[in-house]
Order: sequence, then C-alpha cells, then structure tokens
Amino acid sequence: MAKSIQMDKLRLGVCYYPEHWTEELWSEDFRRMKEMNITVIRLAEFAWTILEPQEGCFDFSFFGRVMDLAHHYGLKVILGTPTATPPAWLTYKYPEVLNANVDGVIYRHGMRRHTNYSSPKYRELCERIVSKMVEAYRNHPTLIGWQIDNELNCQMDVFYAETDHIAFREWLQVRYGTLENLNKAWGTVFWSQTYTEWEQVYLTRTMVGMSPNPHLALDEKRFISDITISFAKLQADIIRELDPHHWVTTNGTFGHIDNHEMTDKLLDFFSYDSYPQFATIRVGDDENPLHDRAWSMKLSNVRSMSPNFCVMEQQSGPGGWVDGKAMGTPRPGQIRLWSYQSVLHGTDLLVYFRWRTATMGTELYWHGINDYHNEPNRRVREVAQIGEEFAKIGELIVGTTYRAEIAIMQDYDNSWDGELDQWHGPLNNQSVRSWYKQLQYRHLPTDMITLRPRTVLEDLRKYKAIVYPHPAIMTDETAALLQDFVEQGGMLFFGARTGYKNPSGHCYMRPFPGVVAELCGIKIDDFTLIKGNVLPAELSWKGSHLPSGTIAVGFNEILHAAKADVDIMAEYASEYYMGMPALSRRTVGQGQVWYYGAAYNEPVVDAILDEIGLKSPVAEYMDIPSEVELGIRYSQEKAYIFLLNYSDKQVTVNLRKPVVSLFDGSTIENNVTLNPYGVQILSS
Ligand code: GLA
Repeated sequence: MAKSIQMDKLRLGVCYYPEHWTEELWSEDFRRMKEMNITVIRLAEFAWTILEPQEGCFDFSFFGRVMDLAHHYGLKVILGTPTATPPAWLTYKYPEVLNANVDGVIYRHGMRRHTNYSSPKYRELCERIVSKMVEAYRNHPTLIGWQIDNELNCQMDVFYAETDHIAFREWLQVRYGTLENLNKAWGTVFWSQTYTEWEQVYLTRTMVGMSPNPHLALDEKRFISDITISFAKLQADIIRELDPHHWVTTNGTFGHIDNHEMTDKLLDFFSYDSYPQFATIRVGDDENPLHDRAWSMKLSNVRSMSPNFCVMEQQSGPGGWVDGKAMGTPRPGQIRLWSYQSVLHGTDLLVYFRWRTATMGTELYWHGINDYHNEPNRRVREVAQIGEEFAKIGELIVGTTYRAEIAIMQDYDNSWDGELDQWHGPLNNQSVRSWYKQLQYRHLPTDMITLRPRTVLEDLRKYKAIVYPHPAIMTDETAALLQDFVEQGGMLFFGARTGYKNPSGHCYMRPFPGVVAELCGIKIDDFTLIKGNVLPAELSWKGSHLPSGTIAVGFNEILHAAKADVDIMAEYASEYYMGMPALSRRTVGQGQVWYYGAAYNEPVVDAILDEIGLKSPVAEYMDIPSEVELGIRYSQEKAYIFLLNYSDKQVTVNLRKPVVSLFDGSTIENNVTLNPYGVQILSS
C-alpha cells in the first residue's frame, strides 16, 4: 500500500511564524491567505521556548489563539514538533544533549540542530514536550496533521557526542553480537586495529590523515540512520497513541538517513522541501546543465517513497542567510514553474516557505511571498494566480500519479560507502547526472528508485529499463534478483566498479565485475582510475553516431567477453588498451544486460538511447523542444500531460492531434506556445 497523502483536491499552504509578528497582523494575514486560496498553514516547528518557557512549565495559549483565529478564517493547521531548536535553558542545564564535532568539540547554543539523538536526557525532554503538545492541540478543529521535528539531519549529519559513542557500541553489539564478529567485519587485523574490549570502539575520531577504517565508516552511517529514525519514532509513537486521527509526516531528504525505511516504519507519507534555486549557486563545470530542472530528480526520489506527497516548503522568493548562503531572485514565472514542477511529480499539498520574510534572525534574507513592507508585490500576485489555477484543476489532478518506463536505481549502502571510497563514489554522480539529463532532454519520464532489502521482482518488473550505474556493494542474492528482471524482459545497465564488494565493504576475491560477472558474461582484465595525468581513452562505437573524440570518463575497465553471446558495442580507441572492449551487451532470456567499463557521460547515454529505441509517451503526436520537461500524471481513465518550460524564451510544442488545456478548457490545435518559464497541463 503506497504511503501517499490523501487530499480532496490540490491545496496550497504556507509556513507561518506568528511568533515573529505582532498579534494585530495575524487577522489581516489570514484574510489575505484565504483570498489567495491558501487554505493550510504550518506552525510551531521552532517554537519550543514559547511552549515550554521554563523547564516543566508549559504554556499552549499562544498557538491556541493562533489556531482559534485560523479556524475563524477557515484555515487548516499542520503542527511541527519543536525538537530541532531546544531552548537555551535546556542546553545550558543539560549540556550532554549537545552534538560534538569529530574532535569532540561541543556545538553550542545559537543555531539549530545542535543536539544529538542519543542523549537519554534529550530523548526524555523531547518525549515530554511532544506529549504535552499533542495533548494540548489534538482536538483543535483546525488540526490536520503533524510534522515530526524539522529536516532531520539538515545542517549536520554526523554525531560525535559522548552518548553517540556509547549508543554506537550498543548498536554494534546488537548487529555483531561478539567482538570477534565485529573485528572480522571491520577487517581490524589490518594495521593491528583489533579490539579486545567494547570500550575501545568509537565512532570516527580525529586520526592521522582523517581516513577512518572504511568498514567502520560505513557502519557509522548505518548507525546514524538508525538512531535518527529511532528519534523520529519516539515522536511518531507518541502522536499515534495520543492522536490516532491525524497524519504524521516529516520533511526533507538529508544525509545519512534511510528515508524509505523511515517512511515505511513510521510515517503516513513523506514530505519534501523544494528549493530549486539552489541550482544557481551550485553551478559546476557541467555542459548544458539542468539547473532548477535537476530538482525533478529529487522530487522523483520522494515519489519513490510516497507517490502523492506534500511539499512542506516550496521556494517562494530568493533564499539567503546573513552569512552568504545567498541566491538570485526567482524570475517572473519561476515560482509558478517550480510549483508545477512539484505538482507534476506528485505533490498534492504545496506549502510555501514562507508567508513573509523575517525582519530579524539568521534568515533575514530568506524571502517569503511577502516582503518586509507587506505591500503587494509580484510574488504575491504569482502565488495568487497559482491559487486561482488550483481552484480550477485541483480536483482533477489530486491523487493521480506519475508513471515512467525507465528508472535510475540507487541504494543507501553504496551512497554511504561512496562518500569515503573515491574508487566508486564519484562515478555515481557523474553517471546519474548524465542519464537523468539525457532522459529529460529526450522527454522520457524517469523514476528514481532505491534498491532495498525488501525489493522484489514485482517492484522492478514495471520498468522496461533500469540504470544501476555503479553498485560496488552487491550480494549474490541481489545479482539473482537482477538476473530475474533481465530474464523476464528488462534492460539493465551497469557501469564501472559494479559488484566487487560485500555488505561490509570488503572486496570479493573474484574477477571483476564480481557478483554480476556471470550475468554480464564478461571479465575485466585490466583497469585504471582516470585521475591527474591518467587521461581517459577515446571510444569508438561500431556503426553509430557517437561523436568522434567521445571519451570514457571516470574509470576505464578493459572488458573481455567470457561468453559467446556477448556483443561488444563499443571499444576503446586510444591508450594502451586501444581496440579492447569498453561496452558490452548480452541478451539473457527476454531481456538485455549492458556493462560499461567507465562512468556514463552524455554522448554515451545518447548513443545507448538511440540503440534501444525508448520513446517519449507522446512522441506520436508532440514534438517538444529540449528546454521543456514532459511528465504525465495518470488516473485510471485520464492522462494529464505537463509541459514545463525552464527557459527564459518562448517555445513552441508542435501537435499532430488536438489537446485540451486544463487551465481554461480550450482546445489547442497545431501547436502549444509556452511563455518563458511557462506551464501547460493538457489532456488529450
Ligand atoms: C529549510 C528549513 C526552513 C528554512 C529554510 C530556508 O528548508 O526547513 O526552516 O530554514 O530551509 O533556509
């Protein structure tokens, strides 16, 4: 059963901080929200000091008044539990709740997320404030659901307080039972690291070269994920017990947390915070980058947890902290574009961050819909337009879901192992980005999926093709599952460094590519990391349009066909391994498995897509320029086609059959014109 939000129609909401404003402003704010078709507000997620101004003294009157007024204006309320920002009295009296850096230096009060999840005291105080809060507000008629904490592991995703080291040992005792097993799993015989007492075991600490035991480093991330989830579970359990009638979610995807596991275990659905403008401050050296459109990849990952979900914070102005995390202003139309980007990928409740820009504090420049002066501005007008549109289309779109024939697959173990291991980690970003880009530019709707211990064939079989680019860690069981997928008709794509590590991160004593060597029908004779003056080889693809000079980036593995039914699709065209195989394809059962001995770059992905002939679902009747994202939300009977123009130019989509615009019901023939940053939703 999908863990989706259940809404009656698409709805707009806004994050509101009544504690930042004088009470006289509230009524006017709520009146204007209603006017803009904003019907939900999120409150209180940082307000612990208001709810518990002194230890053990609770006061729920402030938000009670806000909620009463919200009720008067017909607004619904999401309440955030305030555990991301403990009061000063708390951290002063109980410094053991504070997180520490790798050197053991304590993070002090004054920012947020400065606590650890393992301190028994912090857990106790969090349990108490959450229980009291739920008891105080659970019967309020405005309440629709709870957000646990705020952005778990945002800002900080490593934890080295005293209590974390203790909790890690306990976690290891459960995982390994004996020190002997632990020593084996971590390969501690290497460099005499063998532990003889549990007390000798620590999370990463300052060490020579800051290069921890890699198997410990992987377990550390698994531990952080588990303890984060256990912290969220404390809260979820309380809410479920005291208030079983309202939903429970949490927001944001951050490091070292298995969000899929958390969603399955304790949430009703997952929520995401979408700030596509981050793409403008993180420009790399990527050619023809996706920029804000890359956020669709993140939203697709959220979709893999909850096909219909909530965006709890949608960017509604330029972002910026005082300290320089600063961004440009969304251009006219971009707030609307990004809102529909979220909707396309499954958002049914879209909550803007935030109603009005704060006039004080660290987020002085993180702009909301309204400016400090509160006079009408173009962001208010743009959101009001979206409000009008949601009123028209909201009942049609709600509950419909995105579908794709191709998926890019990842898993947590490899992502976490790849943070430290430079022999496979960086390859994944390169390949995922290249595949996602080309799939976007070719208008092939794409899912981002996560391989999990509980993944079964049925989860994979709905795809024609799965790209699983560099899963260094893989078991024979997973290889067998993937083999079943291929045999039953799937196309599967691997890249360099696949299948050579076990779940502890030890290398198998088997020829590369380890557990998938049989399936792919190849062996790897020789290889090199591409780095420094070790340059990538050129590629030649027999009989194809691979542009001359295309290089094999990241890693070059020299393949060798070990079975007669393996087709060599491309060879290296330079270096000492010139003429040797670089890319193989093998037909297995009804499907195909491809192995590429490098990281994927765009020309290679393009050539593969030409070869396998996957087509956009609207290819028969629409020619879409590459600037436009295509995606479709389906109901049982209907398909709603989203066209999102990310460019600052007007573009035209040519039609070979008439379509109907959902926004105004008009029939469009011949072509659809999209303004700069324009959006259309069509049914055919
Ligand atoms: C995150 C947080 C918000 C706010 C915004 C902007 O998404 O959840 O509280 O801080 O970032 O910085």
